[in-house]
Amino acid sequence: MHISVVGTGYVGLPAGTGLASRGNQVTCIDIDEEKVEKINNGDCPIYEEDLPELLEEMVSQGKLSATTNTAEAVADSDITFLAVGTPMNNDGSINLEYIKQAAEDAAEGIKEKDGYHVFVVKSTVVPTTTEEEIIPILEVVSGKKAGEDFGVCMNPEFLREGTALNDFLEPDRIVIGELDEKSGDTLEKVYSEFDAPIMRTSLKAAELIKYASNSLLATKISFINEIGNLCKELGIDVYEVADGVGMDHRVKRDFLDSGAGFGGSCFPKDVRALASFMEDQGEEPRILEDTISVNEDQKTKLVEQLEDHYPDLSGKKIAVLGLSFKPGTDDIRQSPAIDIISELKELGAQIKAYDPKAIENMKEKHPDVEYTSSYEEALEDTDAGLIVTDWDEFNAIDRGDLQTMNKALLLEGRRMSYDVDEENREGITWP
Ligand code: UDX
Repeated sequence: MHISVVGTGYVGLPAGTGLASRGNQVTCIDIDEEKVEKINNGDCPIYEEDLPELLEEMVSQGKLSATTNTAEAVADSDITFLAVGTPMNNDGSINLEYIKQAAEDAAEGIKEKDGYHVFVVKSTVVPTTTEEEIIPILEVVSGKKAGEDFGVCMNPEFLREGTALNDFLEPDRIVIGELDEKSGDTLEKVYSEFDAPIMRTSLKAAELIKYASNSLLATKISFINEIGNLCKELGIDVYEVADGVGMDHRVKRDFLDSGAGFGGSCFPKDVRALASFMEDQGEEPRILEDTISVNEDQKTKLVEQLEDHYPDLSGKKIAVLGLSFKPGTDDIRQSPAIDIISELKELGAQIKAYDPKAIENMKEKHPDVEYTSSYEEALEDTDAGLIVTDWDEFNAIDRGDLQTMNKALLLEGRRMSYDVDEENREGITWP
């Protein structure tokens, strides 16, 4: 099939490349000329496991190309995925500016087209958006009728940053929300080579499945963090509790790793957007609000713990290890490290910070911090070290590194497996 994908970000590019590797002819569309040129040269503009290699292969085999001309690429394809960002407004609601623009540009492409075309919303949008916001744009701009002249689907994506390509190629399930049967049948053909159950449903149920999935995963994390805070009081290791609870197949152990809370571009934004949408619908999002507020508190718990050791942090030297919201990425969006550094600054501490990938991004948020080129350097002469991201390299920290500190003390916001004496380490929700 000829496929066009609007947006070459963390969803569009892995999806486009993955679809090309499954025998489709794919054109990626972006307004950024530099990105388009890079892709056409076989260079991957984002960092994702295995993506650069597959992208280069697909471009060199002529199965994938990129363009800035949306209308032309749409006209030359059978099906168009809309995969642009839907960021958060200041009030927590969803910003539809980019997806609406993408729909408008894409609809231009079918104005003159004779054959049937299907538009697929892949961006995360709150329920009813496809029906009430996107379809009207597609109809007005193209002058054609949805369900007659063209089809529409909503096909949410459950990819994690860092492993997006593999998550796309090997999904747990494929959710197809469809305007009508013909639209769904056409999209199902695109996934015929995928080994995953396919669920067909309405457009708005598909939209909600995405939000409910992310919100439930985020709620699992806040739940285990709340239990973890109790564990801390009782001297229990929350990981033992999570293991015991997770052995129940109805619960599953996944996403019960307690720590410094969740960050990233999805969980915080999606839980807020769903809560805000629920309020608009006259429903009270009680669990969602608690998921958010438990997480906000959890993000800076390490600083409270540090104050138990140093009631006055003024002038104390503190190492912050890990700045990205999770290992394997340079993304610092909503990372606990941002809030931790802000609080430490307010309390007058002197900060040394290290991360294998995210320093440049953190410099934009916190330019006035001393950044080091290794964790060893960061720990030297400090009064405590805070582990905020569980980068694997931190597991190599040993007693020798601790000897360079003024006080050998590591406070762990993430579970680590390094060989350090118990009296020198302390967990956020474990002893
Ligand atoms: C998430 C979803 O997993 C994915 O399905 C969706 O499409 C996008 O959002 P991502 O944000 O890339 O993916 O990262 P993920 O690995 O899910 O982690 C999110 C955050 O939760 C990280 O800050 C991580 O440290 C934290 N987390 C995760 C926990 O604190 N405990 C856990 O058990 C799991």
